Amino acid sequence: HKHILGIEQLSREDIFYILDTAESFKEINTREIKKVPTLRGKTIINLFFEASTRTRTSFEIAGKRLSADTINISASSSSVVKGETLEDTARNIEAMHPDIIVMRHGASGAPHYLAERLDCSVVNAGDGAHEHPSQALLDLFTMREKKGRLEGLEVAIVGDITHSRVARSNLYALTRVGARVRLSGPGTMLPPGIDRLGATVCDSLEAAVEGADVVMMLRIQLERQSRGGPLLPSLREYSRFYGLTPEKLKLARPDALVMHPGPMNRGVEIASSVADGPQNVILDQVENGVAVRMALLYLVAGGEAPANE
Ligand code: CP
Repeated sequence: HKHILGIEQLSREDIFYILDTAESFKEINTREIKKVPTLRGKTIINLFFEASTRTRTSFEIAGKRLSADTINISASSSSVVKGETLEDTARNIEAMHPDIIVMRHGASGAPHYLAERLDCSVVNAGDGAHEHPSQALLDLFTMREKKGRLEGLEVAIVGDITHSRVARSNLYALTRVGARVRLSGPGTMLPPGIDRLGATVCDSLEAAVEGADVVMMLRIQLERQSRGGPLLPSLREYSRFYGLTPEKLKLARPDALVMHPGPMNRGVEIASSVADGPQNVILDQVENGVAVRMALLYLVAGGEAPANE
Protein backbone atom coordinates (compact mmCIF):
# COMPACT_ATOMS: atom_id res chain seq x y z
CA HIS A 1 0.00 0.00 0.00
CA LYS A 2 1.25 3.49 -0.87
CA HIS A 3 -0.97 5.04 1.81
CA ILE A 4 -2.35 3.89 5.18
CA LEU A 5 -5.71 5.61 5.38
CA GLY A 6 -7.72 3.16 7.44
CA ILE A 7 -8.07 -0.43 8.55
CA GLU A 8 -11.15 -0.70 6.34
CA GLN A 9 -8.84 -0.90 3.29
CA LEU A 10 -6.56 -3.58 4.83
CA SER A 11 -7.01 -7.33 4.45
CA ARG A 12 -6.37 -9.90 7.16
CA GLU A 13 -3.05 -10.68 5.40
CA ASP A 14 -2.08 -6.97 5.34
CA ILE A 15 -2.73 -6.72 9.08
CA PHE A 16 -0.57 -9.75 9.93
CA TYR A 17 2.15 -8.53 7.53
CA ILE A 18 2.29 -5.20 9.41
CA LEU A 19 2.26 -6.90 12.86
CA ASP A 20 5.06 -9.28 11.83
CA THR A 21 7.13 -6.40 10.46
CA ALA A 22 6.58 -4.47 13.71
CA GLU A 23 7.75 -7.49 15.68
CA SER A 24 11.06 -7.44 13.82
CA PHE A 25 11.46 -3.71 14.63
CA LYS A 26 10.53 -3.91 18.32
CA GLU A 27 13.97 -5.10 19.43
CA ILE A 28 15.68 -1.99 17.99
CA ASN A 29 13.85 0.12 20.57
CA THR A 30 15.61 -1.59 23.48
CA ARG A 31 19.14 -1.43 22.04
CA GLU A 32 21.71 0.98 23.37
CA ILE A 33 22.00 2.52 19.90
CA LYS A 34 18.37 2.78 18.84
CA LYS A 35 18.88 3.55 15.18
CA VAL A 36 19.08 1.68 11.88
CA PRO A 37 19.80 3.22 8.46
CA THR A 38 16.66 1.81 6.79
CA LEU A 39 14.99 5.11 5.79
CA ARG A 40 18.13 7.23 5.45
CA GLY A 41 17.50 10.06 2.99
CA LYS A 42 13.69 9.96 3.40
CA THR A 43 11.75 12.96 4.70
CA ILE A 44 8.66 12.49 6.87
CA ILE A 45 6.38 15.37 7.83
CA ASN A 46 4.03 15.02 10.79
CA LEU A 47 1.15 17.39 10.09
CA PHE A 48 -1.06 17.59 13.16
CA PHE A 49 -4.25 19.65 13.19
CA GLU A 50 -5.35 18.21 16.56
CA ALA A 51 -3.63 17.71 19.90
CA SER A 52 -1.57 14.58 20.43
CA THR A 53 0.99 13.25 22.88
CA ARG A 54 1.45 9.58 21.99
CA THR A 55 0.79 9.42 18.25
CA ARG A 56 2.83 12.43 17.19
CA THR A 57 5.78 11.59 19.44
CA SER A 58 5.87 7.94 18.47
CA PHE A 59 5.65 8.65 14.73
CA GLU A 60 8.54 11.09 15.20
CA ILE A 61 10.60 8.61 17.20
CA ALA A 62 9.75 5.84 14.71
CA GLY A 63 10.99 7.96 11.80
CA LYS A 64 14.16 8.99 13.63
CA ARG A 65 15.00 5.41 14.66
CA LEU A 66 14.80 4.48 10.98
CA SER A 67 17.16 7.42 10.18
CA ALA A 68 14.57 9.44 8.27
CA ASP A 69 14.46 13.22 8.64
CA THR A 70 11.27 13.98 10.56
CA ILE A 71 9.67 17.41 10.74
CA ASN A 72 6.67 18.30 12.90
CA ILE A 73 4.08 20.88 11.96
CA SER A 74 1.27 21.64 14.35
CA ALA A 75 -1.61 23.58 12.83
CA SER A 76 -1.82 25.99 15.75
CA SER A 77 1.68 27.34 14.99
CA SER A 78 1.39 27.13 11.18
CA SER A 79 -0.11 29.46 8.58
CA VAL A 80 -3.41 27.55 8.95
CA VAL A 81 -4.20 30.12 11.64
CA LYS A 82 -3.87 32.80 8.91
CA GLY A 83 -6.58 31.13 6.85
CA GLU A 84 -4.60 28.81 4.56
CA THR A 85 -6.66 25.84 3.40
CA LEU A 86 -5.74 22.20 4.01
CA GLU A 87 -5.06 21.67 0.31
CA ASP A 88 -2.83 24.76 -0.02
CA THR A 89 -0.97 23.82 3.15
CA ALA A 90 -0.38 20.30 1.85
CA ARG A 91 0.65 21.47 -1.65
CA ASN A 92 3.19 23.86 -0.15
CA ILE A 93 4.58 21.10 2.03
CA GLU A 94 4.71 18.77 -0.95
CA ALA A 95 6.75 21.35 -2.89
CA MET A 96 9.55 20.55 -0.41
CA HIS A 97 9.49 16.88 -1.56
CA PRO A 98 8.60 14.89 1.55
CA ASP A 99 8.28 11.13 1.07
CA ILE A 100 5.55 10.62 3.68
CA ILE A 101 3.02 12.94 5.30
CA VAL A 102 1.57 11.64 8.59
CA MET A 103 -1.60 13.57 9.27
CA ARG A 104 -4.08 14.01 12.11
CA HIS A 105 -7.13 16.11 11.36
CA GLY A 106 -10.52 16.78 12.98
CA ALA A 107 -12.43 16.07 9.76
CA SER A 108 -13.23 12.50 8.75
CA GLY A 109 -11.74 11.82 5.32
CA ALA A 110 -9.10 14.59 5.43
CA PRO A 111 -6.16 12.19 4.79
CA HIS A 112 -8.09 10.51 1.94
CA TYR A 113 -8.61 13.97 0.40
CA LEU A 114 -4.86 14.63 0.49
CA ALA A 115 -3.93 11.16 -0.74
CA GLU A 116 -5.95 11.78 -3.91
CA ARG A 117 -4.16 15.06 -4.57
CA LEU A 118 -0.54 14.52 -3.53
CA ASP A 119 2.23 12.33 -4.95
CA CYS A 120 3.75 11.38 -1.60
CA SER A 121 2.46 8.68 0.78
CA VAL A 122 -0.14 9.71 3.35
CA VAL A 123 -0.53 7.98 6.72
CA ASN A 124 -3.68 8.67 8.74
CA ALA A 125 -2.83 9.47 12.38
CA GLY A 126 -6.53 9.94 13.24
CA ASP A 127 -9.28 11.61 11.17
CA GLY A 128 -12.23 12.96 13.13
CA ALA A 129 -14.46 10.20 14.47
CA HIS A 130 -13.57 7.97 11.50
CA GLU A 131 -10.34 5.91 11.84
CA HIS A 132 -7.08 5.73 13.80
CA PRO A 133 -5.39 2.82 12.02
CA SER A 134 -1.98 2.92 13.73
CA GLN A 135 -3.72 2.81 17.13
CA ALA A 136 -5.74 -0.31 16.23
CA LEU A 137 -2.60 -2.00 14.88
CA LEU A 138 -0.65 -1.30 18.08
CA ASP A 139 -3.63 -2.56 20.08
CA LEU A 140 -3.69 -5.83 18.09
CA PHE A 141 0.09 -6.11 18.39
CA THR A 142 -0.22 -5.80 22.20
CA MET A 143 -3.07 -8.33 22.39
CA ARG A 144 -1.15 -10.85 20.26
CA GLU A 145 2.02 -10.31 22.28
CA LYS A 146 0.26 -10.84 25.63
CA LYS A 147 -2.27 -13.52 24.62
CA GLY A 148 -0.31 -15.33 21.91
CA ARG A 149 -3.22 -15.13 19.46
CA LEU A 150 -5.93 -12.89 18.12
CA GLU A 151 -8.38 -15.40 16.71
CA GLY A 152 -11.21 -16.19 19.11
CA LEU A 153 -10.36 -13.44 21.62
CA GLU A 154 -13.38 -11.81 23.24
CA VAL A 155 -12.74 -8.06 23.27
CA ALA A 156 -15.03 -5.62 25.13
CA ILE A 157 -14.83 -2.00 23.98
CA VAL A 158 -16.63 0.34 26.36
CA GLY A 159 -17.49 4.03 26.20
CA ASP A 160 -18.15 6.68 23.59
CA ILE A 161 -18.27 4.39 20.57
CA THR A 162 -20.00 6.93 18.30
CA HIS A 163 -17.19 9.46 18.43
CA SER A 164 -14.29 7.04 18.76
CA ARG A 165 -12.00 6.50 15.77
CA VAL A 166 -10.13 4.02 17.99
CA ALA A 167 -13.27 1.90 18.40
CA ARG A 168 -14.05 1.96 14.67
CA SER A 169 -10.51 0.97 13.59
CA ASN A 170 -10.35 -1.74 16.26
CA LEU A 171 -13.72 -3.09 15.21
CA TYR A 172 -12.56 -3.43 11.58
CA ALA A 173 -9.21 -4.92 12.58
CA LEU A 174 -10.43 -7.35 15.25
CA THR A 175 -13.29 -8.78 13.19
CA ARG A 176 -10.93 -9.19 10.23
CA VAL A 177 -8.51 -11.35 12.25
CA GLY A 178 -11.24 -13.48 13.83
CA ALA A 179 -11.61 -11.88 17.27
CA ARG A 180 -15.10 -11.15 18.64
CA VAL A 181 -16.03 -7.61 19.64
CA ARG A 182 -18.62 -6.59 22.23
CA LEU A 183 -19.52 -2.92 22.44
CA SER A 184 -21.10 -1.07 25.33
CA GLY A 185 -21.86 2.56 26.11
CA PRO A 186 -24.72 4.97 26.80
CA GLY A 187 -27.41 4.83 24.11
CA THR A 188 -26.40 8.26 22.81
CA MET A 189 -22.83 7.05 22.32
CA LEU A 190 -23.65 3.90 20.35
CA PRO A 191 -24.12 4.53 16.62
CA PRO A 192 -27.23 2.88 15.16
CA GLY A 193 -26.40 -0.08 12.92
CA ILE A 194 -22.90 -0.66 14.39
CA ASP A 195 -23.84 -4.34 14.86
CA ARG A 196 -23.86 -4.65 11.05
CA LEU A 197 -20.06 -4.30 11.20
CA GLY A 198 -19.89 -7.57 13.12
CA ALA A 199 -19.97 -6.41 16.76
CA THR A 200 -22.30 -7.58 19.51
CA VAL A 201 -23.93 -4.58 21.17
CA CYS A 202 -24.39 -5.18 24.92
CA ASP A 203 -26.84 -3.28 27.09
CA SER A 204 -24.47 -2.82 30.02
CA LEU A 205 -20.75 -2.65 30.78
CA GLU A 206 -21.20 -5.77 32.90
CA ALA A 207 -22.63 -7.76 29.97
CA ALA A 208 -19.75 -6.67 27.72
CA VAL A 209 -17.04 -7.40 30.27
CA GLU A 210 -18.31 -10.80 31.47
CA GLY A 211 -15.81 -13.48 30.40
CA ALA A 212 -13.84 -11.05 28.20
CA ASP A 213 -10.15 -11.61 27.37
CA VAL A 214 -9.56 -7.89 26.80
CA VAL A 215 -11.36 -4.85 28.20
CA MET A 216 -10.67 -1.66 26.27
CA MET A 217 -11.92 1.54 27.89
CA LEU A 218 -12.50 4.75 25.94
CA ARG A 219 -12.53 8.40 26.90
CA ILE A 220 -15.67 10.47 26.28
CA GLN A 221 -14.76 12.53 23.20
CA LEU A 222 -16.05 15.81 24.60
CA GLU A 223 -14.59 17.69 21.62
CA ARG A 224 -16.75 15.67 19.20
CA GLN A 225 -20.14 15.75 20.96
CA SER A 226 -22.64 17.15 18.49
CA ARG A 227 -23.65 20.72 18.96
CA GLY A 228 -27.05 21.26 20.50
CA GLY A 229 -27.84 17.66 21.52
CA PRO A 230 -28.06 16.74 25.20
CA LEU A 231 -25.86 13.72 24.57
CA LEU A 232 -23.71 13.88 27.62
CA PRO A 233 -24.77 12.27 30.90
CA SER A 234 -23.23 13.79 34.02
CA LEU A 235 -19.71 12.49 34.54
CA ARG A 236 -20.75 11.03 37.88
CA GLU A 237 -23.61 9.11 36.23
CA TYR A 238 -21.36 8.03 33.36
CA SER A 239 -18.73 6.79 35.76
CA ARG A 240 -21.30 4.82 37.76
CA PHE A 241 -22.53 2.87 34.75
CA TYR A 242 -19.56 2.90 32.35
CA GLY A 243 -16.51 3.32 34.59
CA LEU A 244 -14.29 0.26 35.04
CA THR A 245 -13.81 -0.47 38.74
CA PRO A 246 -11.94 -3.42 40.31
CA GLU A 247 -15.33 -5.05 41.11
CA LYS A 248 -16.55 -4.84 37.51
CA LEU A 249 -13.23 -6.07 36.16
CA LYS A 250 -13.70 -9.27 38.22
CA LEU A 251 -16.45 -10.23 35.74
CA ALA A 252 -13.82 -10.59 32.99
CA ARG A 253 -11.50 -13.58 32.72
CA PRO A 254 -8.95 -13.50 35.57
CA ASP A 255 -6.14 -13.00 33.05
CA ALA A 256 -7.99 -10.31 31.06
CA LEU A 257 -5.98 -7.38 29.75
CA VAL A 258 -7.05 -3.82 30.55
CA MET A 259 -6.34 -1.45 27.68
CA HIS A 260 -6.82 2.26 27.06
CA PRO A 261 -5.56 4.25 24.06
CA GLY A 262 -5.00 7.36 26.20
CA PRO A 263 -5.43 10.05 27.22
CA MET A 264 -7.23 8.62 30.26
CA ASN A 265 -9.69 10.44 32.45
CA ARG A 266 -9.01 8.71 35.73
CA GLY A 267 -12.09 8.33 37.89
CA VAL A 268 -14.41 8.74 34.88
CA GLU A 269 -14.07 5.77 32.49
CA ILE A 270 -11.44 3.96 34.55
CA ALA A 271 -10.64 3.84 38.26
CA SER A 272 -7.05 4.70 39.07
CA SER A 273 -6.57 1.36 40.82
CA VAL A 274 -7.52 -0.44 37.57
CA ALA A 275 -5.45 1.88 35.36
CA ASP A 276 -2.39 1.12 37.51
CA GLY A 277 -3.40 -2.45 38.39
CA PRO A 278 -1.70 -5.72 37.47
CA GLN A 279 -3.90 -6.38 34.43
CA ASN A 280 -3.22 -3.07 32.69
CA VAL A 281 -1.07 -3.04 29.55
CA ILE A 282 -1.57 0.66 28.84
CA LEU A 283 2.11 1.57 28.70
CA ASP A 284 2.88 -1.60 26.71
CA GLN A 285 0.46 -0.18 24.12
CA VAL A 286 2.51 3.03 24.01
CA GLU A 287 5.81 1.13 23.79
CA ASN A 288 4.48 -1.05 20.97
CA GLY A 289 3.20 2.05 19.17
CA VAL A 290 6.78 2.94 18.22
CA ALA A 291 7.48 -0.48 16.63
CA VAL A 292 4.13 -0.50 14.80
CA ARG A 293 4.71 3.01 13.42
CA MET A 294 8.24 2.03 12.35
CA ALA A 295 6.65 -0.83 10.40
CA LEU A 296 4.05 1.46 8.78
CA LEU A 297 6.65 4.05 7.71
CA TYR A 298 8.96 1.32 6.41
CA LEU A 299 6.22 -0.43 4.43
CA VAL A 300 4.70 2.70 2.82
CA ALA A 301 8.25 3.71 1.86
CA GLY A 302 8.39 0.51 -0.19
CA GLY A 303 10.12 -1.85 2.26
CA GLU A 304 9.61 -5.60 2.18
CA ALA A 305 8.47 -7.52 5.26
CA PRO A 306 11.28 -9.41 7.00
CA ALA A 307 12.21 -12.83 5.66
CA ASN A 308 11.79 -14.47 9.07
CA GLU A 309 7.97 -14.12 9.17
N1 CP B 1 -4.03 7.33 21.60
C1 CP B 1 -3.78 8.52 21.03
O1 CP B 1 -4.07 8.77 19.86
O2 CP B 1 -3.16 9.43 21.86
P1 CP B 1 -2.75 10.91 21.46
O3 CP B 1 -4.03 11.67 21.17
O4 CP B 1 -1.98 11.47 22.62
O5 CP B 1 -1.91 10.82 20.20
